[in-house]
Amino acid sequence: MALMRRTGDDKMAHLIDGKKWASKSRAETAQAVAALAQQGVIPGLTVVLVGDNPASKTYVRGKEKAATEVGIRSQVITLSEGTTQDALLSLVEQLNADQMVHGILVQLPLPAQISEQAVLAAIHPDKDVDGFHAQNAGALATGQPGFIPCTPLGVMKMLQYEGIQVAGMNAVVVGRSNIVGKPMAQLLLNANATVTICHSKTKDLADVTRRADLLVAAIGRGRYITRDMVKEGAIVIDVGMNRIDGKLCGDVDYESVSAVAASITPVPGGVGPMTIAMLLSNTVQAASLSAVR
Ligand code: GUN
Repeated sequence: MALMRRTGDDKMAHLIDGKKWASKSRAETAQAVAALAQQGVIPGLTVVLVGDNPASKTYVRGKEKAATEVGIRSQVITLSEGTTQDALLSLVEQLNADQMVHGILVQLPLPAQISEQAVLAAIHPDKDVDGFHAQNAGALATGQPGFIPCTPLGVMKMLQYEGIQVAGMNAVVVGRSNIVGKPMAQLLLNANATVTICHSKTKDLADVTRRADLLVAAIGRGRYITRDMVKEGAIVIDVGMNRIDGKLCGDVDYESVSAVAASITPVPGGVGPMTIAMLLSNTVQAASLSAVR
């Protein structure tokens, strides 16, 4: 690999350590699990995996391991690639009715014969630990309690742990997915940032991103955000998970951007571990809600 030439002015950005913060969050969750156990409640999470997408399998294994470690009763149900939508919907109904199951997560993407929208709508909103149900998305948009999608929630938690106050900041979110971009923008808005959402049709993207005090990259294209697109002293959060020549990388060109940013999350070891930590936290929230119901 070619060495980067640095000028004397270049400072390396502060690295935001997602692994460290996720571990802190998991310890907090483990305490909440212990408190629930005192009331006779053991939080239960069921993850449903349809087909054999290798990346999905890896993610699901990670979720199961992390859940078990904090004392959550975790179960993975694996269905074949050819599973029909009706069969998956029946399973979801069964899990909705199961009192031992507090959180249900159907791993995405699903095979082409199954409508993601239909499946996400079938999960009971009180068990929707992904926060993908329209009721939970609506609750977030209108400032009501509900489940918040794990990745953007993890970003907010990490910023809080870092002592970063987003109120009044110019926050730019690149990407507008239902899973990350939209809820991320909503959370930043709720925290009183001035929020801009960019996407593939945005004119002169670099002109917009250069105005960001806080830049969140959730585009799904490896090393897309380069040094010239980032303001000196910006906080850069990289939600991407891509492979270039077999190597895992984010949506941000870490090497060049870390020379201008004040703080930056790495990939791996940034947002990813926080996403899993928030899934555990949401599962405990679901179990706590069931305990008071
Ligand atoms: N696939 C990739 N990320 C996610 C996630 O956060 N939740 C679900 N259900 N599927 C995913």
